[in-house]
Amino acid sequence: EKIHCEIFKNSMEASKIVAQEIAQLIRSKKERNKTCVLGLATGSSPIKVYEELVRMHREEGLSFANVVTFNLDEYYPMNKENKQSYHYFMHQHLFNHIDILPENVNIPDGTIPLEELNQYCIDYEMKIKESGGLDFQLLGIGRTGHVGFNEPGSHVNSGTRIITLDHITRSDASSDFNGIDNVPKRAITMGVSTILRSKRIVLLAWGQNKASIIKRTVQGDTNSEVPATFLQNHTNATFVLDQSAAADL
Ligand code: GLP
Repeated sequence: EKIHCEIFKNSMEASKIVAQEIAQLIRSKKERNKTCVLGLATGSSPIKVYEELVRMHREEGLSFANVVTFNLDEYYPMNKENKQSYHYFMHQHLFNHIDILPENVNIPDGTIPLEELNQYCIDYEMKIKESGGLDFQLLGIGRTGHVGFNEPGSHVNSGTRIITLDHITRSDASSDFNGIDNVPKRAITMGVSTILRSKRIVLLAWGQNKASIIKRTVQGDTNSEVPATFLQNHTNATFVLDQSAAADL
């Protein structure tokens, strides 16, 4: 394997370990009076990690007062109140239940007018840099091999930008949107290079649906057709898998 993999019995056990690592990072930053900058992901894969972080907040007093977050992506166009928005998802699964300061939450804004998007994406990238850079990036993986919404064809040097969604990605999202015709055709996403600059990367994958893309990502050569293969270039990336997602390795 070209990327370090850790395989767990199930996604629950795995998610607890990942949440522990994040909590540990937040606490160690706090002891040094520093902010902890987290890159966060949506989709079904990270949900149990967020549940565990919320539990630690409630039961163990884990505070997010020193945490700044940047989400990977958002559909475009997309209103924040829309239940399919990643804005809604993040508040529902995490932000509404913890003590993070609202001004420390950054999610790409799917309501920015098209003609302002270029500048908006440059500013998003700049804001990550000014915050000190991502300490930890949580990732899922799409069946196309996308991370964030960096679809096949994404360059290793790509930054935050607007992209066109792959047909497979839109079809995988169609049940959330009540049919593929309702799935937005575009999205705003952090770039491959934005992700690779994170000091630590953890990618989550559960279930047999992900087994083949995990094999291609972990064993194949780096190439734009499977953008997740670029994670092979990172020195501190781990794939956290359940047994089904690791079945083809
Ligand atoms: C979406 C998100 C990705 C996510 C992927 C996989 O396309 N933009 O960030 O990794 O879906 O989703 P899931 O975790 O539900 O399998």
